[in-house]
Amino acid sequence: MTDKVVLAYSGGLDTSAAIRWLQEKYNVDVIAVTIDVGNEKDFSVVRQKALKVGAVKAVVVDAKKSFVDHFIFPALAANAVYEGVYLLATALSRPLMAKLLVDVAIKEGASFIAHGCTGKGNDQVRFEVSINALAPDIKIIAPAREWGMTRQETIKYAQRHGIPVPVTVASPYSIDENLWGKSVECGVLEDPWTEPPEDAYSWTKSPAKAPNKPGYVEIGFKEGVPVSLDGKELDGVTLLLRLNELAGEHGVGRIDHIENRLVGIKSREIYEAPAATVLLQAHQALEAMTLAKDQARFKQKVSIEYADLIYNGLWFTRFHQDLAAYVLSTQRFVTGVVRTKLFKGHSSVVGRKSPFSLYNLGLATYDKGDKFDQKASVGFIHIWGLPVRNQAQVQLLAQEECPLSLAAPKAKSKGKRKAAK
Ligand code: ARG
Repeated sequence: MTDKVVLAYSGGLDTSAAIRWLQEKYNVDVIAVTIDVGNEKDFSVVRQKALKVGAVKAVVVDAKKSFVDHFIFPALAANAVYEGVYLLATALSRPLMAKLLVDVAIKEGASFIAHGCTGKGNDQVRFEVSINALAPDIKIIAPAREWGMTRQETIKYAQRHGIPVPVTVASPYSIDENLWGKSVECGVLEDPWTEPPEDAYSWTKSPAKAPNKPGYVEIGFKEGVPVSLDGKELDGVTLLLRLNELAGEHGVGRIDHIENRLVGIKSREIYEAPAATVLLQAHQALEAMTLAKDQARFKQKVSIEYADLIYNGLWFTRFHQDLAAYVLSTQRFVTGVVRTKLFKGHSSVVGRKSPFSLYNLGLATYDKGDKFDQKASVGFIHIWGLPVRNQAQVQLLAQEECPLSLAAPKAKSKGKRKAAK
């Protein structure tokens, strides 16, 4: 019986050529699996194309809801952002895809899984680490890493084999997109000094052409999860689609970044993430109101670790589950509404409210109704400053140099040292 390979199929040039190449090189039956994570394609066309090119079976999996519930919203709860700017859209989708590919491979009795990644990126790592974690016996094939063809050669290969070459091949960019954002690489963008041309963007209006009147959106959160827009409850997928459109219309969510890939390369990445940008800001604003100082500060460390593990392909680890447990615990009171203003490429939080707000007007106000006992501050400052006074007497004022100097001080010959009171 011919062996089977489950191929992660996007419908693009590389994965289409891979169908043929896998048959020729490995003599296997190819089952094409296309995973819908909100990348807005006509999936029936993609499916038909896989069959036409030679797949024995072509499956489309609608994974949008799983993607939102189990990947996007947990990452939002963690405020996961890589290198301060990348909201991890592609990185988050890979472990989900790996899981679904493994599911099909097991169901179909396939010994192989194949993906279209090259040997230079992060995605090969994310796919393979995740697949190996979930199904160590399944062997992985990466045609685009093995075949050594340039883009032009791949086009020729496709033409030779009667594989339709999509018009998008004319596009100078390499694009990946899903509900959480879009990434654009290659072409003129490879010169980090070159400003991205307008045609690199498709989700966001140019801020210069965005409406002259600001837009406002109210985002409702329940325990850290966005549940409504402008008071209307929405399922996660619809909420993201709407917010991408709304914020994109105001030019919000364009990101231009030189990124450190896991494989050691620095790459120039253009991202569009309108909904993600707005939701992250809103979520952080609500946390600022509902988390205590120590929780929030510790959470910042967790956020960095969380983002790194997503970026680095370590989704299916206990470390992830440990961090997720902390994040989940912090979200218990992150419930409320945040009002965001969208204007000419910027989004800013201009209002927030929560039934669990720790903001206490009686304590904060400078007007009447002040409940804060200002006289108690005297005793607080006395105790708080005790170690500072003590050290200053012994180590700072006892030196000849001005206390502002950071240079190594000379000891005073007969400095008087007093113990602090
Ligand atoms: N640099 C981003 C990441 O590693 C985006 C990668 C986009 N992937 C792609 N196959 N075009 O997550």
